[in-house]
Amino acid sequence: MQLIEEESSEIASSNRGPGRYAVFGQPIAHSLSPRIHAAFARQLSIAHDYRPIEASTEEFVGALAAFAESGGVGANVTLPLKQHAARLCLSISETARRADSVNTLVRRGEGWHGESTDGAGLIRDITGRQRLYVRGRRTLLLGAGGAARAVAFALLDAGIGELTIANRTAERADALADAIGQPERVHTRYWTDLGQWGGFDLVVNATSAGHANMSLALPTSLLASRAICYDLSYGKASFGFLAWARSAGAGHALDGLGMLVEQAAEAFEIWHGKRPETDAIYAELRAYLPGDAED
Ligand code: ATR
Repeated sequence: MQLIEEESSEIASSNRGPGRYAVFGQPIAHSLSPRIHAAFARQLSIAHDYRPIEASTEEFVGALAAFAESGGVGANVTLPLKQHAARLCLSISETARRADSVNTLVRRGEGWHGESTDGAGLIRDITGRQRLYVRGRRTLLLGAGGAARAVAFALLDAGIGELTIANRTAERADALADAIGQPERVHTRYWTDLGQWGGFDLVVNATSAGHANMSLALPTSLLASRAICYDLSYGKASFGFLAWARSAGAGHALDGLGMLVEQAAEAFEIWHGKRPETDAIYAELRAYLPGDAED
């Protein structure tokens, strides 16, 4: 049976020292995580051998076992493996359990401990790097898949106001709202009815539509003045949503690059007990990515 517990410095300290680290996913070749972690390691002068490992859902269990065998002590997990990772951990943090998603693995004895740093990464990016408030914001979450689930709890914990969830498949939005279990604060709406709703101060796009180059066809009436629009994706996958956000009058149209860097910093701190500074690598990646994202 899986133990559930909050992440603690005890876990971090028991895993400090040399060892191998990796990011698992499919596809993984274009992952920015090795570059981010290399920058953190240089900055803090910490030995941190971190490599991408391509693995499908079928290959993941075997690939992770081989990684542990070869000295693997920590790993990130990205699409499509986050839910699978949550299933195979011996222990899991409360944050990861609620999100039903693990993006950070820590070797502990003969098994893996699972954490989810995506939600913390999102909140740190909005409130820390962008210096924007989320407290009390009337929030619309677009999507109800794994990414939406990973950030919904973090948004609520950060003190947003009402949360409305809209998903193309309405049943998934209802399932996420039920899992959250705060009916006075969390509501669902039919995607097709979004034109009737407006006044959102924060709109978070957690759909994967941009990756398939599909438009969300959102009404421009959704936003309150000076609203924040945030796409969990970055690069080309975020361009459509960000273009819509600007045309709808958003005060801030943000992509998920900052969240990517911040979730990586959270993972690095879990493994090494030291928190890297993130501004330099964020600026480097911002300059490197094809850009249309801006505040
Ligand atoms: P992830 O782990 O990236 O969240 P996922 O669990 O497959 O991936 O979820 C993808 C999300 O994007 C879902 O909310 C999906 O809506 P459905 O539940 O209806 O499938 C949403 N999505 C994908 N393509 C979309 C599109 N073209 N328009 C609207 N929503 C879309």
